[in-house]
Amino acid sequence: MYIFAIESSCDETSASLIRAYDKKIEVLSNIVSSQVPIHALYGGVVPEIASRAHCEAITNVSRTAISSSGVSMSDIDAVAVTFAPGLIGSLLVGLSFAKSLAFSLGVPLIPVNHIEAHVSAAYIEHEELEPPYLALVVSGGHTSIYNVTDYVTFEEIGCSRDDACGEAFDKVGRVMGLPYPGGAAMDRLASIGYSSQNSKTKSNIFFPSPAVHDDTLDFSFSGLKTAVINYIHNEKQKIKSEVLPNDIQAEIAAAFTSSVCDGICKKLSMAIKKNNPKTIVMAGGVAANSHLRKSVSELCAKNGVNFTVPSISLCGDNAAMTAAYAYHMYNLGLFADSSLNAFASDESAEIFMEQLKNTHKIVH
Ligand code: KG4
Ligand code: ZN
Repeated sequence: MYIFAIESSCDETSASLIRAYDKKIEVLSNIVSSQVPIHALYGGVVPEIASRAHCEAITNVSRTAISSSGVSMSDIDAVAVTFAPGLIGSLLVGLSFAKSLAFSLGVPLIPVNHIEAHVSAAYIEHEELEPPYLALVVSGGHTSIYNVTDYVTFEEIGCSRDDACGEAFDKVGRVMGLPYPGGAAMDRLASIGYSSQNSKTKSNIFFPSPAVHDDTLDFSFSGLKTAVINYIHNEKQKIKSEVLPNDIQAEIAAAFTSSVCDGICKKLSMAIKKNNPKTIVMAGGVAANSHLRKSVSELCAKNGVNFTVPSISLCGDNAAMTAAYAYHMYNLGLFADSSLNAFASDESAEIFMEQLKNTHKIVH
């Protein structure tokens, strides 16, 4: 079967066409139009500008995704769309477009939760992956651990109590003067910091852990973020300059990254003890971080747990992951009608999905 999907929850307009059968998901096209250059001028996403940019991009992105897939519109079996969580104006653009397309093609409309879609990106390259497993989602808006009991059931067993991990990377990056969003640049800078630590002496910079000091699986990134930002300001004052030398920046990036990796591994290690999973899946934009990939992979190897993480191109927002999640919704007959609304929060998304699953049980 062929699924066409749209993702527009934040600052990427994306459309994808997949062919799916049995456990196989073939990505025929996955077009991503990023608004990063626009929002970089403001140092963060401006919601109103994001909605307008989605309006401008969505027709061309969709047209390109369909034409480059080699599939004709009349062969599309379902249209999927991210309906939550995210920026409400951005979500509504994708939702309205997807509704019209599903209606005009006369095919089912599939509502997709963005966070669960991030995790489903892993099915694209890992046919062998199947629930149950534990999933860690690390993105610009989320840092959560889920117990995934079936393809569409995610129970949150830990989360950040304040900032998301990606948010901390971006804010620290901004104070360091790195281009927005700072995550990828921080990754490269930390590599420089680690290699100079290996060749010289060990770093003596230590930042607080984002692992909450209790027996929950929760995180807190705001203390870490503030500690790093204060450290940077102090260093600048010491040398009476607005710009820190490159080697100091790299050392700070490495110390921050170590704190993030250690904190995440601490809570994952507790989750392994509590839940005894066979597999851990890591997903979301920050899952592209090379140091975090290495740390979580080593933790899993040490504990005899399989580790699955999508390729870097499938970690950030893209519609192929939306389509992958939708394939499992399709198999369960979980469709929306044209009254489908967009929701900004996780809670509203969850309530909607519960209702959809309950209605489905009644109908069948
Ligand atoms: O999942 P995503 O594309 O969007 C949301 O759903 O939020 O995640 C975006 C986040 C941004 O904070 C970005 O800086 C971060 O992912 N990111 C990274 C890396 N690549 C992207 N963070 C750390 N290291 C990276 N290599
Ligand atoms: Zn995302």
